[in-house]
Amino acid sequence: MFNRRNGGGEYPRLVAVETTSRCNASCPFCPYNVKVRDKIAMAQDLFEKIIEDCREFPLETIEPFLNGEPFVDPDIVGRLEHIKRRLPRTNLAVYSNGYALTPKRIDQLVGIGIDHLYISLNTLDPDKYRAIMGFNLARTLDNMRYLTDPVRRQRIAHEITFRMTRMDDTTLAEQDRFIAYCKERGVRCFIVGLFNYKGDVSSHLPVPGYPCEHITRLDILSDGTVTLCCQDQEGKYAWGDVRKASVLEVYRGAVATRYREMHRTGRRAQIEPCGTCNLFWPSLDGMPLATTVKVAVQAGLYMIRHRPSGRKAPTADPPPPRPLAVSE
Ligand SMILES: C[S@@+](CC[C@H](N)C(=O)[O-])C[C@H]1O[C@@H](n2cnc3c(N)ncnc32)[C@H](O)[C@@H]1O
Repeated sequence: MFNRRNGGGEYPRLVAVETTSRCNASCPFCPYNVKVRDKIAMAQDLFEKIIEDCREFPLETIEPFLNGEPFVDPDIVGRLEHIKRRLPRTNLAVYSNGYALTPKRIDQLVGIGIDHLYISLNTLDPDKYRAIMGFNLARTLDNMRYLTDPVRRQRIAHEITFRMTRMDDTTLAEQDRFIAYCKERGVRCFIVGLFNYKGDVSSHLPVPGYPCEHITRLDILSDGTVTLCCQDQEGKYAWGDVRKASVLEVYRGAVATRYREMHRTGRRAQIEPCGTCNLFWPSLDGMPLATTVKVAVQAGLYMIRHRPSGRKAPTADPPPPRPLAVSE
């Protein structure tokens, strides 16, 4: 139904640029811990080339991170400024675990024009926080107090959201405390269940049959490889390479086009690795109206039945066995 098209065809709604593949946290639900590819910062000339490529079409949103922590990139502030300068009409959304967002760093963000800043806090229990992320919660909460102080918060980001990755054992009491904390700090609250990273991470949430929202975005790893999506953390199912082609050329290339076509024609289960991946946000783009309506209903039923986001009681059942890959 909804198409993003210009001259030569469709263009992505979102581009993610992994300015660094390093992270300072050790979250057990994130494949960062077992990632084998090099942990590097993106070269500045490659970063600038990608941003110039994005000027060729009306990009809605850019996210300067993927499988890393943007604030361990020593050049991140300059890179955020560069994005805003060269893509002034594009929404700039940034995710961070907040640990390196010290008051000094927060002051550097004032006036850049970040549209949405997400902080992945995950829990407010100090012991669990240390066990999950390897950090001292008190330091992160000090950072959050400084960030959300009414004196500066509006000048740092138009919207601020605190995010909790809800694990299978996250209690309702923990979630309620998190909701109350977000309210107290005056930020949005976002609680999300576990993605299974194509089957690499254990999650109770089933694999949906409807098209995935990731087919209309482009995820660029720190070496320039365009990975299938953020769940393809090693770039094993690559769509192309932006060192050799433009962002638009990769998005319109044969591999990416095939993924979109398989999802949009109800064949997600038949294409590896999407047939084993439970990423549950739907795509409603680029399909005939009747199909869009059907997908919206399927996704709505999935949301009602499985409650992948929001407050939800923990489950005692063991997670389902790792799904078989299409080729297995
Ligand atoms: C991969 S991190 C990268 C950005 C940044 N380091 C951060 O912590 O926000 C992006 C988000 O993915 C979340 N995440 C990681 N693994 C996940 C999983 N298996 N299921 C759901 N969310 C996950 C993180 O908690 C974080 O909110």
